[in-house]
Amino acid sequence: MSSSAAFIVGNWKLNGTGQGLGQIRSIAEGVQDAPSVRVAICPPATLLSRAAQVIQGSKLSLGGQDCHPEINGAFTGDISAEMLADAGAQVVILGHSERRAAYGETNTLVASKVSAALRAGLEPIICVGESLTQRRSGEALRVVVGQVVGSLPSEAAHHRFAVAYEPVWAIGTGLTPTLNEIEEVHLAIRSALKDIFGPAGLRPPILYGGSVKPDNAAEILKGQEVGGALVGGASLKAEDFLAIVGAV
Ligand code: PGA
Repeated sequence: MSSSAAFIVGNWKLNGTGQGLGQIRSIAEGVQDAPSVRVAICPPATLLSRAAQVIQGSKLSLGGQDCHPEINGAFTGDISAEMLADAGAQVVILGHSERRAAYGETNTLVASKVSAALRAGLEPIICVGESLTQRRSGEALRVVVGQVVGSLPSEAAHHRFAVAYEPVWAIGTGLTPTLNEIEEVHLAIRSALKDIFGPAGLRPPILYGGSVKPDNAAEILKGQEVGGALVGGASLKAEDFLAIVGAV
């Protein structure tokens, strides 16, 4: 673990209707007893404003899962960072590998979305991670550091943001890297952040994501430079997600 408060973020992906608000309420109630942890849930954008009402007054934050670089305009189907903030979000996940793969999001596009998030006062969580082929061919560190360098605009130095290391092969598969492998990548990301931003590069938490579950969270969160977790499947049920928060 790193020294500042751990940051645990739930990514609901394409899951959740109004029925899921009860889980969000339970998570908000559960995190009141976890003072040394920052916690956010990123439901589908359609739930944000209702979720904001449900969790009013709690320490749970809400986030989006993507945003468009522009404030508004002729971009059918897209949502701007300002719209997410207006609906109650404080954070936004950007550059998730599912978006990089399915929608061809490049580092340059992700960097422009990060700028948009900062412009709107949101805390971006920038996702990076290698594929299984890249890991097997010894390219993991080069790929991940390249994504960090390419996805961060220079103004991020003056703002709050987080990086999430999510090996693509560990997402939704039940597979996780060893603690040594996680630490190796997190240390490389920290060193890249220091190279880019100088002392400001020491601040951003580096989260681990990819099959984080109640039974492996404590071990993963012990890792050097592991500042929290980005949790997919196990964030959908309040009981599982709160067990991960409790593992900090
Ligand atoms: P998972 O997803 O926890 O279901 O592996 C993590 C993520 O994609 O953020």
